[in-house]
Amino acid sequence: TAQLLAQREVISSQLVNHFVDRGALELYYDLGRGQFGRVRYGVLRVPGRSPISVAVKELLDDYAPVEESELIQEAITLASLQHPHVVRLIGVCTTDGPLLVLMEYAFFGNLRDYFCERRHFAESATGYTDSLNEAFYVSAESITRLAWEACSALDYLSTERLVHRDIRAINCLIDEQRSLKLADFGLARTIGTGTPGGDDEYLCRSRGLFPVRWMAPESLDMGVFTMVSDVWALGVLLLEMVTLGARPYGDWPSDRVISYVLAGGYPPLPNDISEETRQLLMRCWEPVPEERLTAAEIANELMQNSALLQ
Ligand code: ADE
Repeated sequence: TAQLLAQREVISSQLVNHFVDRGALELYYDLGRGQFGRVRYGVLRVPGRSPISVAVKELLDDYAPVEESELIQEAITLASLQHPHVVRLIGVCTTDGPLLVLMEYAFFGNLRDYFCERRHFAESATGYTDSLNEAFYVSAESITRLAWEACSALDYLSTERLVHRDIRAINCLIDEQRSLKLADFGLARTIGTGTPGGDDEYLCRSRGLFPVRWMAPESLDMGVFTMVSDVWALGVLLLEMVTLGARPYGDWPSDRVISYVLAGGYPPLPNDISEETRQLLMRCWEPVPEERLTAAEIANELMQNSALLQ
């Protein structure tokens, strides 16, 4: 309880501008369920303002204290960020009940499901694409735009010296305007000033589960997470975009993925990928971390070639 009280103090100081009255929140159905928590659709009715849709993250019953501090940490991280392609913190409910974190609601949900739902149209629509609108079909141009938006979010995080550590399609949300919002900052950590040999690298051993298919060799090998390992994951995210939500490495079991990547491998590419796309992805997956592109450089390439990801 002493730890809990100390934690509440941290919340008070860093989230003081974000407190929301629990009574103003109506909670509805599940939007998603993870390992540690769930996200529900909610409506926030603050007197004198128009009601807004929110996504409400909370812990599942019988959570461990460390999970609560991670959720608090996520809220504090989100409170410090402001970018058109990073999900916005609306508020937190910290008193008179379980901790609730209210985030901007993204109408179309996560990017992986968004793509999977539209995949059969892409396959069957050849020749009819002119008459199909974006409701059913994702064009190469809009995939490239979404990719650019993800790069711009990651570039912003690197200016904030924040390592996300869980970049992947399921952690990107699509709002009503079909704009991408990077979310799930539960694993994100701020790092040092970037001096060589300094604290630029984040060592993580506190969690049992890792996003293996999105992890760079140095993360798999030594548990090192940096802005550069985020770029490796960004490359895997771009591959998910190109393949409309296919699982990286297909049905390979995790241990096969790990030994393959540690031996210098990278995600297998589809046969019909363009040479330009292939080269862009390969430059996210350079085995030597320092040789990878930065998010800003990838964003630039995408800007110059609006149909790059085909
Ligand atoms: N699922 C998880 N977070 C969400 C959000 N912010 N909006 C919509 N669906 C979500």
